[in-house]
Amino acid sequence: MGTCTKSLVLLLALYFVADQYKINASKFKFTNLVCDLLDPSWLEIYQCRLKAIRRDKTTLNFNGTLLKTVNKIKIHVQILKKANGWKPWLYNMTLDGCRFMRNPYVPVAAIVYNLFKDNSNFNHSCPYSGPVYILNLHVTAKDIPVPLPSGDYLLLIKWYFASSRNLTTSLGISSGIYFNFKED
Ligand SMILES: *[C@@H]1O[C@H](CO)[C@@H](O)[C@H](O)[C@H]1NC(C)=O
Ligand SMILES: *[C@@H]1O[C@H](CO)[C@@H](O)[C@H](O)[C@H]1NC(C)=O
Ligand SMILES: *[C@@H]1O[C@H](CO)[C@@H](O)[C@H](O)[C@H]1NC(C)=O
Ligand SMILES: *[C@@H]1O[C@H](CO)[C@@H](O)[C@H](O)[C@H]1NC(C)=O
Ligand SMILES: *[C@@H]1O[C@H](CO)[C@@H](O)[C@H](O)[C@H]1NC(C)=O
Repeated sequence: MGTCTKSLVLLLALYFVADQYKINASKFKFTNLVCDLLDPSWLEIYQCRLKAIRRDKTTLNFNGTLLKTVNKIKIHVQILKKANGWKPWLYNMTLDGCRFMRNPYVPVAAIVYNLFKDNSNFNHSCPYSGPVYILNLHVTAKDIPVPLPSGDYLLLIKWYFASSRNLTTSLGISSGIYFNFKED
């Protein structure tokens, strides 16, 4: 390697090290949580709320029970960003929940799943019935592995269920997770 190339490599290495250690002043905050139960024959909800732990710390809590055995789950995920009302932002997708739990085949959904899986009992594939919960979920800016512009966001997730693979799913619950992100 020539001296010039070596210097360049060193410079790049320093750049990456410095970047890794820079203070992350970015902030993530849950601002609201909404659960609309559309079909009470599928689900019972005991808790769906944010808890303010400290001024700067809010946790997300969901606790419910799936009343019937689910063998097919369709999950529709849409991200909206506030700009004169809620506007669709980047992602609008539908995934097969049972398949995803066997193999997280959609990278963006895997990012969201990784944020909450350790605080939940969402660790099984189909068939499933019984408790479903996410407890004391706290997310900070450094848990977000992708660049995100500052703003108010709404992660809208609609859950469709069917008791058998060969049946059409029906909308059980629509959930809205509102958060604010402030870039460094
Ligand atoms: C800052 O955030 C970046 C990416 O979000 C991460 O790679 C880095 O480790 C963080 N640094 C600190 C000091 O937390
Ligand atoms: C969820 O709520 C039910 C009914 O109140 C309760 O029995 C159960 O312990 C709760 N689950 C969790 C994980 O807190
Ligand atoms: C998002 O996807 C749903 C279902 O595929 C579709 O009905 C809706 O029109 C889409 N919205 C936008 C803004 O593309
Ligand atoms: C799923 O998570 C719950 C709660 O953490 C745990 O009790 C259970 O053993 C886990 N099941 C599997 C299949 O990992
Ligand atoms: C759907 O599949 C189940 C078994 O998985 C079977 O018992 C049932 O007859 C099927 N129903 C239809 C309408 O094909």
